[in-house]
Amino acid sequence: MNKETSLILPEHIAFIMDGNGRWAVKKRLQRSAGHKAGAEALDKMISYAYSIGIKNITFYAFSTENWSRPADEVAALMSILTKWLSIMIKRFNENAGEVYKNTKVNFIGDTGALSLLQRKKIADIEKKSIETENRMTLNLAVNYGARAEITRAVNKFITENPGKKISENDISQNLYTAGQPDPDLIIRTGGEMRLSNFLLWQASYSEYYSTPVLWPDFDEKCLDEAILEYNKRTRKFGGLSS
Ligand code: FPP
Repeated sequence: MNKETSLILPEHIAFIMDGNGRWAVKKRLQRSAGHKAGAEALDKMISYAYSIGIKNITFYAFSTENWSRPADEVAALMSILTKWLSIMIKRFNENAGEVYKNTKVNFIGDTGALSLLQRKKIADIEKKSIETENRMTLNLAVNYGARAEITRAVNKFITENPGKKISENDISQNLYTAGQPDPDLIIRTGGEMRLSNFLLWQASYSEYYSTPVLWPDFDEKCLDEAILEYNKRTRKFGGLSS
């Protein structure tokens, strides 16, 4: 994307990375190969989003519902996650590129259900990334479900404020994404048109973009196209367009 263009950049883009399995089947590969390619596409998108100036980016890596997939696929996804976490730690420790010097990583979801090793790596990354310039916030949703997130936020609030009435702002401030802008644009690859329990609260006024491109094939050009389409939308937030 040409930085000189007068395009409005979404401040926060969220991705539902769908289609890894179909990508692999089309290539006569195991589904796990699709997830591996998906992790590579994720890394590419982090760097590209940073390079064009996106300030907040969120990826749906593993949902609370994904545990119900066949055990071998869950195991493959968890092993890809563990490797990805190790690679991220290395990138932060070695300042591997501008993006890792300036990005804060935030894991959203019930990470308590992950292995001890994964939780330790997550804590390392979050700690390390706090010291960065924080020009971009990267949320990785792992064992994430939006209904569980909202329920957790409400319970947290009522435990901390017994007897007090809860407001919309109280809920927002107790979500995993507290303090961040809501996503302006939600991109779903793989052609489906549903939210699948992703950011239900935060997505109230997001623009949706669905593309048939399968996630491992989603590249820089595809993101440019989504941002172009976003620029054609008139955002009204319930009011009238000006
Ligand atoms: C959906 O594809 C994708 C997922 C369930 C997980 C997304 C995971 C990645 C992109 C890679 C993992 C990255 C990390 C960091 C853990 P699908 O399998 O539902 O695709 P299908 O609809 O074609 O079957």
